[in-house]
Amino acid sequence: MHFDVLTLFPDIFRGPLDESILKRAQEKGLLSIALHNIRDYAIDKHHITDDAPYGGGGGMVMKPEPLFAAVETITAEEPDAPVILLTPQGRLFTQAVAAELARHSHIVLICGRYEGVDERVRQHLVTDEISIGDYVLTGGELAAMVVIDAVARLLPGVLGDPGATLEDSHAQGLLEGPHYTRPAVFRGWEVPEILCSGNHAAVARWRREQALRRTLERRPDLLARAELTSEDRESLERLAAESPGDDK
Ligand code: 6GU
Repeated sequence: MHFDVLTLFPDIFRGPLDESILKRAQEKGLLSIALHNIRDYAIDKHHITDDAPYGGGGGMVMKPEPLFAAVETITAEEPDAPVILLTPQGRLFTQAVAAELARHSHIVLICGRYEGVDERVRQHLVTDEISIGDYVLTGGELAAMVVIDAVARLLPGVLGDPGATLEDSHAQGLLEGPHYTRPAVFRGWEVPEILCSGNHAAVARWRREQALRRTLERRPDLLARAELTSEDRESLERLAAESPGDDK
């Protein structure tokens, strides 16, 4: 999978991309990321990429010419690649959107800065707009990093365990339940006995119920959209009737 990232600040990406799983994914040839400085596509002497808004007011607006030139250069051989603008006005990025993007082999990400980008970029260049949440960042760079990370870990071979993403929080519309590792007793706090029982079916049932419990307690809004079996619904009714758990 290949990402082309258009940004005024390519160096923001270097740390996160050069460590750990994303680094290894690039070394294995599963993921490639080209960072393009938008300034390099500005044709005027001073490489200007922004200008004052028509109609007055504060802030600066990213000019259309460098963005069109950059995208048209980059997608010349691949006109079908989605061109995604990172903006707080975009559709909300979720695990489902990450899975949808992971089906593409080539994606162009445009990191907006300042007050925004010229509206003609939205209308005639961009094919999709994404926001990572209802808060405002100084620019789209961190949001693009979030998108790359969430998509990359879904690509086959990027994570060591091929089944690892199936039980992720949000993968099935639920939060994951608790995890434990050794020691079996830490400061007097014990690991739930069932996890040490060796009974795989019982462990799977327990995990499902813990996921339901955690989602009910923390994100009940997710339950409306989750894929639930009739057994899940029975569990939820019982859990809802219980007193609140010992979760902080
Ligand atoms: Cl994609 N960009 C900016 N500037 N702020 C955001 C965002 C994106 N998503 C949430 N907040």
